[in-house]
Amino acid sequence: MNVLKLLVVAGMLSSMTTWAQAQEDPFADAVETRHGLMLQMGADLAKMGAMVKGDVAFDAALSAKAAANLAAIASVLSMEQFPAGSENGKAADSYAKAELWANEQDFLAKIADLNAAAAALQPLAAADVDSLKTGMGGVGKACAACHTAYRMAE
Ligand code: HEC
Repeated sequence: MNVLKLLVVAGMLSSMTTWAQAQEDPFADAVETRHGLMLQMGADLAKMGAMVKGDVAFDAALSAKAAANLAAIASVLSMEQFPAGSENGKAADSYAKAELWANEQDFLAKIADLNAAAAALQPLAAADVDSLKTGMGGVGKACAACHTAYRMAE
């Protein structure tokens, strides 16, 4: 076998390996990333929620930090973490409904709603516990609106 043939075979083998990996689970990274972003937003909300419930004393700096984190993560959400076809039943561990991709504009609007609510929360989270509660209410509604439409119950 000459060098050229060897290179062609090697190239075929390497693209077959890539293909095989992609067949295994092409959406694994996207699902893992979106779950991580969602879980971190949940953790930030929980920190603020503990202050609203009175489990933890209100701390303006910690509350403002959690609100800033949440806003930063909300700003990362996009279709990039939701590639077409990565719904429940097609992507391992996903609870995303197929409707999400049939209503992409609405899904993006719900991301924008979350970003607006997260921006509104920031000054409130730094103020006092009643303001924090009001701001969290807006964010919680934005989370729930999208979950009701596009996330399956586990
Ligand atoms: C624009 C839509 C949208 C918004 C807004 C949204 N989520 Fe989600 N969330 C989803 C979808 C879709 C899933 C399911 C993803 C999957 O399993 O593939 C999900 C899943 C989750 C999960 C489960 C993660 C896991 O590991 O299974 C948590 C927790 C979560 N979201 C928290 C939040 C919180 C907290 C907010 C608000 C601060 C929020 N989400 C806002 C769409 C959204």
